[in-house]
Amino acid sequence: MLISTSFLSSKNIPKDLMKLNKTDTDYIHVDVMDSKFVKNKSLPFSEMKNIYKYTDKRLDVHLMVKNPYKYIEQYATLNVEYITVHLELDEDIEDLLNYIKSFGLKCGLAIKPTTPVKDLVPFLPLLDLVIVMSVEPGQGGQEFISGIEDKIKELKTLIQEYKSKALISVDGGINEETKKLCSAASILVSGSFILKEDDFQKQIDKLRN
Ligand code: DX5
Ligand code: ZN
Repeated sequence: MLISTSFLSSKNIPKDLMKLNKTDTDYIHVDVMDSKFVKNKSLPFSEMKNIYKYTDKRLDVHLMVKNPYKYIEQYATLNVEYITVHLELDEDIEDLLNYIKSFGLKCGLAIKPTTPVKDLVPFLPLLDLVIVMSVEPGQGGQEFISGIEDKIKELKTLIQEYKSKALISVDGGINEETKKLCSAASILVSGSFILKEDDFQKQIDKLRN
């Protein structure tokens, strides 16, 4: 299982990123919020871009924003592996995914807890990643919504059926217990469970196996 660590709930981002840099977390998950697609707002890019000073991990960027083009262009300049946008946007999704790919990056789609997985079908050939949200997007430290495990399994079946290369990532409320519901996934995004203890590596180890 790959681990992508979210620093959304961090009270000291430089310190926590430097600590995470010494762990074997596979990615740093960057939650970007615009106060339009979700209520909260993250740091502006002019500040967020400084994370390169504290980490050399690859970034897994989760855009919870209404107008993603500007953000894609900005975040594409960082050490990014994946940029993910939301399927629920009122945008031409295929065009957005191709825009991400035009920077030589892997592209992802995220779905909110109530969005059916079958809505992803038209985009499966283009996708490198699907983020299944197991909480309502916009805030760290929430509880995993029960029943999401069925969506993850359903998505796995669809990905196989359509011979898509997309990996499944689960985001929100992941801990030692809820990770057991995510065995069909390849990546677990975790924030508060990892950051709540002083020993980040120990928390990552609990999620990984
Ligand atoms: C929620 C974010 C998540 C969140 C994960 O909107 O997309 O990435 O920060 O944090 P925890 O693990 O605390 O749910
Ligand atoms: Zn996220």
